[in-house]
Amino acid sequence: MSLCLCPNRAALLPGGLLYLLLLLMLLADPGLPARHRPPVVLVPGDLGNQLEAKLDKPAVVHYLCFKKTDSYFTLWLNLELLLPVFIDCWIDNIRLIYNETSRTTRFPDGVDVRVPGFGQTFSLEFLDPHRITVGSYFHTIVESLVGWGYTRGEDVRGAPYDWRRAPNENGPYFEALRKMIEEMSQLYGGRVVLVAHSMGNMYMLYFLQQQPQAWKDKYVRAFVSLGAPWGGVAKTLRVLASGDNNRIPVIKSLRIREQQRSAVSTSWLLPYNYSWSPEKVFVRTPTTNYTLQDYHQFFQDIGFEDGWLMRQDTEGLVDATVPPGVQMHCLYGTGVSTPDSFYYESFSDHDPKISFGDGDGTVNLQSVLQCQAWRGRQKQQVSLLELPGSEHIEMLSNTATLAYLKRLLLGP
Ligand SMILES: *[C@@H]1O[C@H](CO)[C@@H](O)[C@H](O)[C@H]1NC(C)=O
Ligand SMILES: *[C@@H]1O[C@H](CO)[C@@H](O)[C@H](O)[C@H]1NC(C)=O
Ligand SMILES: *[C@@H]1O[C@H](CO)[C@@H](O)[C@H](O)[C@H]1NC(C)=O
Repeated sequence: MSLCLCPNRAALLPGGLLYLLLLLMLLADPGLPARHRPPVVLVPGDLGNQLEAKLDKPAVVHYLCFKKTDSYFTLWLNLELLLPVFIDCWIDNIRLIYNETSRTTRFPDGVDVRVPGFGQTFSLEFLDPHRITVGSYFHTIVESLVGWGYTRGEDVRGAPYDWRRAPNENGPYFEALRKMIEEMSQLYGGRVVLVAHSMGNMYMLYFLQQQPQAWKDKYVRAFVSLGAPWGGVAKTLRVLASGDNNRIPVIKSLRIREQQRSAVSTSWLLPYNYSWSPEKVFVRTPTTNYTLQDYHQFFQDIGFEDGWLMRQDTEGLVDATVPPGVQMHCLYGTGVSTPDSFYYESFSDHDPKISFGDGDGTVNLQSVLQCQAWRGRQKQQVSLLELPGSEHIEMLSNTATLAYLKRLLLGP
């Protein structure tokens, strides 16, 4: 872009217009020196980045399933793998197997799963690498950042992870993240801004609660949280009881339930007692009311006892009453019908009747507002921005979100 305001041309312009032109150029100028732009790390939510698998399996669940592959292929998201028959193969590959003794998960025999693209953005810009119109996720944010002068894989990087697991089984991820933040801060001369969506916020809160305050002061300028389920999500009870195919309507809920139950992160996201009243009934049946005090009973009654162990393994990982200790910007959608409680005639394979409350369609309002409780409880600023009518995924490309990010990153 030419910055030359040639004197003879300028002389032709009336004063007011010249002033306006100068103002527009200042506003539009993307060429701020790099050191004034804080490096950015993007952290996706549940299901929010690609996973790859390589197979050498002793057995398969159907003769059409691949038993062995020469290389890694995209396990998530590849819509072709979710078609009838293939979905059975897919579930048999993507599920985790829980060991009640070691309280850890492992991959099924002969399945190796890896997270592609740590430090890059591709695996969270689009979930399905083959169909970039389907599953666009962080793409709009990354494109905007690039428009503001950022470079993919350099001063804007992604931090994808194995979202099936909770933080207790992702130790190396946090180590790699810490190193990456330190490296970006050194390379680009400034503290890093974290931008997380959905469950990625719980991952970041866990991470920040593990770091000494001096490290946070040195390396983290701000944390922008989009649609954070700080206090858990009511919908999780439905996911565990009968499955939820919301995002991918071709799949039957009960089929996807096996994968959703086997992911420890699902039980981790059950509602927490600091955001909800212990009397609040999340699930009703003709004989029983289930509150957050009744999870043990709930897991027994839905026939998923490992879930209770998973919950106990994970519920102490993040205490969202403890502030993160960095400058916070909590953006959240409201005014979208959000599942709030469920009625089951019985747990045997029926979809529930759903009652709705306020939120972004996925995260309930009272969960995301946990951010408010940090005001005055940490010395760093805590800002909230309501995005009326903004749905959980839509908020990533909402113009208000992008404008907020731009102001935060580039200054007023
Ligand atoms: C479960 O973990 C225990 C302890 O680490 C181990 O001894 C046992 O073999 C594991 N069980 C299975 C089925 O892998
Ligand atoms: C909330 O739940 C945790 C974990 O079960 C428990 O330790 C704590 O006592 C509960 N707090 C309240 C106020 O019930
Ligand atoms: C469950 O709670 C509702 C109110 O939410 C109440 O009317 C009903 O009697 C309760 N049912 C049982 C079985 O406790």
